[in-house]
Amino acid sequence: MGQAAAWGSRLWGLVVVVVLCGTAAAAGPGAAPLLCNVSLDSPAGERWLPVLRHFEPAFLRAAVARVIEFCTSIVAQDEKGNIYHGRNLDYDFVDILSKITIDVQFIKSGQIAYQGTTFLGYVGLWTGQSPHKFTVSGDERAGGSWWENAIAAFLNRNYPVSWLVRDTLSRAEDFQSAVLRLADIPIIAEVYYIVGGVSPKEGMVITRNRRGPADLWPLDPLSGAWFRVETNYDHWTTPPPFDDRRTPAMKALNATGQQNINFDTLFQVLSVKPVLNDNTVYTTVMSAAFPEKYQTRIRTMK
Ligand SMILES: *[C@@H]1O[C@H](CO)[C@@H](O)[C@H](O)[C@H]1NC(C)=O
Ligand SMILES: *[C@@H]1O[C@H](CO)[C@@H](O)[C@H](O)[C@H]1NC(C)=O
Repeated sequence: MGQAAAWGSRLWGLVVVVVLCGTAAAAGPGAAPLLCNVSLDSPAGERWLPVLRHFEPAFLRAAVARVIEFCTSIVAQDEKGNIYHGRNLDYDFVDILSKITIDVQFIKSGQIAYQGTTFLGYVGLWTGQSPHKFTVSGDERAGGSWWENAIAAFLNRNYPVSWLVRDTLSRAEDFQSAVLRLADIPIIAEVYYIVGGVSPKEGMVITRNRRGPADLWPLDPLSGAWFRVETNYDHWTTPPPFDDRRTPAMKALNATGQQNINFDTLFQVLSVKPVLNDNTVYTTVMSAAFPEKYQTRIRTMK
């Protein structure tokens, strides 16, 4: 995913960083990340500047080096029809990334237009929520070589994959239109987008090619499929034995049961090893119908 990094750094150089943050609590394991407000009403160039003051320059330089490697996303429906969405973001440089993980609220006319979890200075989002509309997470789909990705990035003027998440959060009016955008708009790399809505059955795993959807995999609660788990492998294939996080997540969900799934139990499922592992930077649980319950925790296991 070096191409996404290139975009990240390029965009970072141009865009500059966040506005108002809460108190800078130590972002240790189990802690909530720094919460920052970005005003969508102020000029783009100024938005991130105040946030930069909270961090050491060395972190910033090392931070946006690359993006997302392995991850786990889960969308699930309880027996009442509530939709829950959780994700672990896993990455190599967990020590650095855990220190620059921030929750961001994008504020328009005094209201939260959308929010998400990201790394300081990184303009895209891999995890986010549009209140009362939908939630989105992105997981890497290994595909293509670095040079294919580079060509796709520079010859086509495609959206960087994490920018499309943010763009969708800012534009899509509901679950259906979010799924359409995330499925259809050309992007520079292959990815999985996991989307949750506010009504029963509104859960979808989108497997993306660069040009469009490779597969759409909805929740199907009436047939017993009350959850979908996506890690970093196509759901119709078997994950490699050396990196099977799918089976343990499914076992934990089965053991939890549809009648018991909620924010807390979903967080517990995302805490089962190896779903939670040495590379897990943060866990987010969210439900678009209950936007105030959006919760991220830093997870470094050290
Ligand atoms: C962020 O914006 C919200 C909504 O306007 C506000 O309630 C909150 O106090 C703001 N937080 C900070 C740190 O500015
Ligand atoms: C979870 O439960 C379903 C339905 O009973 C079953 O088909 C599936 O094999 C179970 N998966 C795991 C990993 O336990």
